[in-house]
Amino acid sequence: MTMKPAHSYAPDPGILDAVETASRDEITALQTGRLKVTLSHAYAHVPHYKKAFDDKGVHPDDLKSLEDLANFPFTVKDDLRRTYPFGMFAVPREQVVRIHASSGTTGKPTVVGYTRNDIDMWADVVARSIRAAGVRRGDIVHVAYGYGLFTGGLGAHYGAERLGCTVIPVSGGMTARQVQLLKDFGAKMLAVTPSYFLNILDEMERQGVDPRDTHLEIGLFGAEPWTNEMRQDIQARSDVHAIDIYGLSEVIGPGVSAECIETKDGLHVWEDHFYPEIIDPETGEVLRDGEFGELVFTSLTKEALPIIRYRTRDLSRLLPGTARSMRRMEKITGRTDDMMIIRGVNVFPTQIEELIVKDDRLAPHYQIELFKSGNMDAMRAHVERDASVGADAGAAAGSKLAKSVKDLIGISIAVELHAPGEIARSEGKAQRIIDNRSK
Ligand code: DLL
Repeated sequence: MTMKPAHSYAPDPGILDAVETASRDEITALQTGRLKVTLSHAYAHVPHYKKAFDDKGVHPDDLKSLEDLANFPFTVKDDLRRTYPFGMFAVPREQVVRIHASSGTTGKPTVVGYTRNDIDMWADVVARSIRAAGVRRGDIVHVAYGYGLFTGGLGAHYGAERLGCTVIPVSGGMTARQVQLLKDFGAKMLAVTPSYFLNILDEMERQGVDPRDTHLEIGLFGAEPWTNEMRQDIQARSDVHAIDIYGLSEVIGPGVSAECIETKDGLHVWEDHFYPEIIDPETGEVLRDGEFGELVFTSLTKEALPIIRYRTRDLSRLLPGTARSMRRMEKITGRTDDMMIIRGVNVFPTQIEELIVKDDRLAPHYQIELFKSGNMDAMRAHVERDASVGADAGAAAGSKLAKSVKDLIGISIAVELHAPGEIARSEGKAQRIIDNRSK
């Protein structure tokens, strides 16, 4: 399928949820009412919140307007770890119909729970996200996010089913089979991490399958940061519209926010269920819309695990609504944890990614190694030359990358060039940073 113009997917307003086109005043009123209920529910039923509110000298009744939320305490990942496994639940365990957990790299997993109503709401916001991405009732959706404790697979699955799609629950891995099923079952949408999609495209090439000869029109990409440059690269290579979907298990899973295919200008936060704030990650101060900082979310309708001012560690900014009334968040720049400081300059993997994918001589697979040079932190980008060019052209692209990083980001890095296929491929979330600084 050659690429159909993005505007041809724009929905008839009649099929949208009323809140997607509501006025800002209506949204604010809805949020204020729901926020009061959520704060009271958390305070009454979760010992952690009772203590945290009391310690800060705030009570749910103190919230008169949305701005008052700034007086309430933040919640961090450690709070969920300390109450492992079920201590943050606000309903009796018997009412929890589903558990998910994120493994993390260290320590105990973070456990989240859902009541039947929570699962319903989650299916609704994912259905809304999939529709925003251009899919309609009756379309075929192939899910290659992992199924299991990770929220990606089941989250996308329930949402696509809710929209009335034919869902193909493939999960991650077995890449050759992913290609076969895409070909044979004719999915219009593939829900997958962008890094795994690149891996699938390589496999298609190996099998001599042109993505344009399949029915694939839309990729629903999330669970990891990816840049607008990556979007251009993927779209040019496959004629598949690349649409961003964001979420995190602590807040619900995928479907906290999503892009509209007709605009592709950032992700509309589904503000009827999730209230966003941007804070200064150093001071915790709430920043104005348009300012860049850490995203914080408060759930507005969740029962099993109400979450108050959860610090996501994801960096973005809030922008006014465009295709929908709800505010947008700009594409995530990176996580505060992934920020590398090289000789005093802050760098995110996405900044290096932008430069790599712009150069056709380089493949879009990369990893960034941190190591010690004397007692300074140093960085080496591992990149692959594209299969279409030889070693010399690859080496020239590597030198150009080092120069662009110096000119545009202001740091000196080493670039190590690899032959096609040498960099580890992702089947889910890509591991971008290899930290060898203690070696
Ligand atoms: O990754 C949920 C998800 C699944 C979202 C599938 C989208 C698609 P966690 O495993 O809890 O949940 O990881 C959440 O992943 O805090 C971000 O750092 C990152 N992340 C998720 N979506 C995006 C995105 C799922 N679109 C963490 N862009 C979040 C950038 C993302 N980062």
